[in-house]
Amino acid sequence: MKLVFATNNIKKLLEVQNMLPKSIELLSLKDINCFDEIDETETTLEGNAKLKANYISEKFGYNCFADDTGLEVDALDGKPGVYSARYAGVPVNSEKNMQKLLSELEGKSNRKAQFRTVICLNLDNKQYLFQGICKGKILHEQKGEKGFGYDPVFKPENYHESFAEMNSEEKNKISHRGLAIQKLVNFLSKN
Ligand code: IMP
Repeated sequence: MKLVFATNNIKKLLEVQNMLPKSIELLSLKDINCFDEIDETETTLEGNAKLKANYISEKFGYNCFADDTGLEVDALDGKPGVYSARYAGVPVNSEKNMQKLLSELEGKSNRKAQFRTVICLNLDNKQYLFQGICKGKILHEQKGEKGFGYDPVFKPENYHESFAEMNSEEKNKISHRGLAIQKLVNFLSKN
């Protein structure tokens, strides 16, 4: 079966392909000649994941899944959430996003936060949602150089290192995206 992953990130695609049974062939947006900019205009992670998956299924007729991720911070009522990428404005800039986050949390003692990934799968005209959550806290300053986005300021629960101090294998085992993908893979392996 051919299945589109609504991404152009080849690293993400290969990682998931390696976890799937050989009978499932993953295709990127480029593979199906989709070069459209799919605007994430919804106000929830679920909404954006559905919007992207539906766009591909409806316009290109493929089974498809799409993901959306946000960082939800307790003391900021769940912000930046669905707006995590553009928190400090556009063009997207991780350094500015982290600086804004640290300054919004200045003087606040509750540093609890979670990363949440939602995957929407459109399979044979049915829709399925999968969620992965990684709980942790926001550090007072950046630690580590690896990863991307908010990794240097996020420390997962029960770990001493920030995400940016872990190698990608360690991070994938416990990360929001890793957990959501694992649920998707388990489902696809059984169905
Ligand atoms: P996306 O939905 O995967 O594009 O994620 C949206 C935004 O959330 C990214 O631009 C990052 O700022 C942030 N983000 C998502 N996943 C991670 C992660 O694993 N570590 C750090 N930041 C992340």
